[in-house]
Amino acid sequence: MIAMVCLGNICRSPMAQVVLSDKVDAGSLAGRVLVTSAGTGDWHVGNEMDRRAAVTLSAHGYDPSAHRAEQFTVSWFDDHDLIMAMDRSNHRNIGALAVGGDTADRIRLFRSFDPLAGDDLEVPDPWYGGQGGFDDVFAMIERTTDEIARCLDALLSEFDSPST
Ligand code: 4NP
Repeated sequence: MIAMVCLGNICRSPMAQVVLSDKVDAGSLAGRVLVTSAGTGDWHVGNEMDRRAAVTLSAHGYDPSAHRAEQFTVSWFDDHDLIMAMDRSNHRNIGALAVGGDTADRIRLFRSFDPLAGDDLEVPDPWYGGQGGFDDVFAMIERTTDEIARCLDALLSEFDSPST
C-alpha cells in the first residue's frame, strides 16, 4: 500500500490518492497496489474532501465522493510500503513518528517524482487560497502521479513489502 499524506487530508493528499488510484487501476499493478491517504492532523477526520478539491477532481473526470478523512498514525508504517508527503512539514511530522528499521527511508516527498519540480519539492497548501491554487495543485498531481505510476514496480521492489 502507498499512502499520500498532507496536513488536513481534505485537499492535497486525497486528490493525489484518487488520481494515482485511477492510474494504478488502469495499469499492470491493478489489484496489487492500494493507494490510501491521511493527514498528520485530526481536525477533519471523517469529513469529505474540501468542496474545491472535489470540484477540481470532478472537472477532470475523477470521482471524489468516496473520500473520508483519516489521520496518519504510527500503525500506518506497518501496512504501507511507501509514504508520500506533500510538503516538508508533513515529511517532518511523519518522520517524527518513524519507528526505526527502514521506516524513515519509506517516507518520500511526493514532488521528488515531479519531472517539472526543479528545486521546489513541495505541493503548496491550497486551503487558504482560491480555486486557482487547486488548479495548480491538480496539475502537479496529474504529472507527478504519471511518473509514480510509471516507476511503481521498481519503487516497490526496493522494500520488503509488508503488503502490496
Ligand atoms: P490539506 O489542506 O493539508 O491539503 O488537506 C488543509 C486543510 C485543512 C487545514 C489545513 C490544510 N486546516 O488547517 O484545517
